Amino acid sequence: MRNVHDNVLSCVGNTPIVRLNSVTEGLQATVYAKLEMLNPGGSIKDRIALQIVADAEASGAITPGSTIVEGTSGNTGAGLAMVGAVKGYKCTFVMPDKQSEEKRAALRAYGARVVITPTAVEADDPRSYYSVSRRLGHEPGAYFANQYHNPSNPAAHYNMTGPEIWEQLDGQLDVLICGLGTGGTVSGIAKYLKEKNPNIKVVGVDPVGSLYYDYFHTGQLTPAFPYVVEGIGEDFMPSTIDWQYIDDVVRVNDRECMHMTRRVVREEGILCGGSCGAAVAGAVKWVRQHDAANLKVLVILPDSGSRYLSKIFNDNWMKEMGFTEAESGFGTVSDLLHHRGERELISVSPDATVSEVIGTMKMHGISQVPVLEDGKLIGILSENRLLEQALQGTPGKTRVRELVQANYTTVDDTTEITVLSELFKRFKVIFVVGGPAIRGAITKIDLIDYIASMATGEPK
Ligand SMILES: Cc1ncc(COP(=O)(O)O)c(C=O)c1O
Repeated sequence: MRNVHDNVLSCVGNTPIVRLNSVTEGLQATVYAKLEMLNPGGSIKDRIALQIVADAEASGAITPGSTIVEGTSGNTGAGLAMVGAVKGYKCTFVMPDKQSEEKRAALRAYGARVVITPTAVEADDPRSYYSVSRRLGHEPGAYFANQYHNPSNPAAHYNMTGPEIWEQLDGQLDVLICGLGTGGTVSGIAKYLKEKNPNIKVVGVDPVGSLYYDYFHTGQLTPAFPYVVEGIGEDFMPSTIDWQYIDDVVRVNDRECMHMTRRVVREEGILCGGSCGAAVAGAVKWVRQHDAANLKVLVILPDSGSRYLSKIFNDNWMKEMGFTEAESGFGTVSDLLHHRGERELISVSPDATVSEVIGTMKMHGISQVPVLEDGKLIGILSENRLLEQALQGTPGKTRVRELVQANYTTVDDTTEITVLSELFKRFKVIFVVGGPAIRGAITKIDLIDYIASMATGEPK
């Protein structure tokens, strides 16, 4: 018999690539999507589950009777549960409480044990899903799959997804765009594709609230905060993400992710999850800035919409979350900067002394100042930080390099004003990046002034 598999595991991979036709309207580039929801466990994570278990068996870390433990937003769990079911391993999964009920039910359906943990705690809190999974993963007989730090994760995409994409597209690819979770997908695929053709550009998509966007643009780990889209973005740096392969990072907010997810389902007929909407929204945003007639772009769609029926595809939930409200029409950061006019960016060098910085802040009447080295932002210094240091008796001659703080965030010209207002709930100052250098700072009063001028119809 031809076309018959010994078991479901050999059905993982070889997912189709289709051209997107409607959500990309107006773009000259051709945008393709890889339909990873068509893996038998329902997501791209089936691929890493196969590799993780195979590598652990080979090293003797998993033996008959082992229990596979993982902290998972659901999809890695489904993949591991599927592999466990076929190979006879028990599974325990730890999930944050923001994940959908469908995802928990899917894991239990495979016979796995599911432990739910609070989302709104720090990654190093003992109740966090990272901590709980690490603890359970080190119990006797347990094997901790640890997708955030397991090299088998990117290796799966280097060995399998990358070659598959290269073959399917006959090497005809200019840009790969995908969401950043553990970063395993982007790092593994990008490594393979760039070995084949170093000119291929790789773009990551990050949700507002995650720390990747700021990290990519400024090299600093700024504070993360909760967001709704599942599966992408992080509040710590996994070792599975390899920044050498990432050429750009674009940011999307929850509302954009949800709207684009719904559009991809309704207009392209692809039942996909929220991180797919995020990836497509990010792709459209990036391509708009770099559009060209012969540009070929591939977007990875990690999982299925069937896992989000009670959320993204439920009108009541969308309304409750405020995702159905109309766009504000306030434009982008570029409009705000145009309205405000150019303004000199007051900054200090990391080699400046505490006394010099206090002098600069006094002279310009500002309560925080960016610290720039060769035009690159390395942090900020606030009045509070300087007061704290003064109380601790830090001498005025101390260089400020060691005192910089990371409680800022960055945006670019294309960031929507609605995203700015969301960011101002968390940060006092927002820096505008454009290329490697910082272009300016925006404060809350700039935003208030801009919005007020829009409301009164004052000309820009
Ligand atoms: C739904 C979904 N999308 C995207 C990703 C991101 O993929 P990666 O972890 O390889 O960066 C994940 C990861 O958990 C996911 O579950």
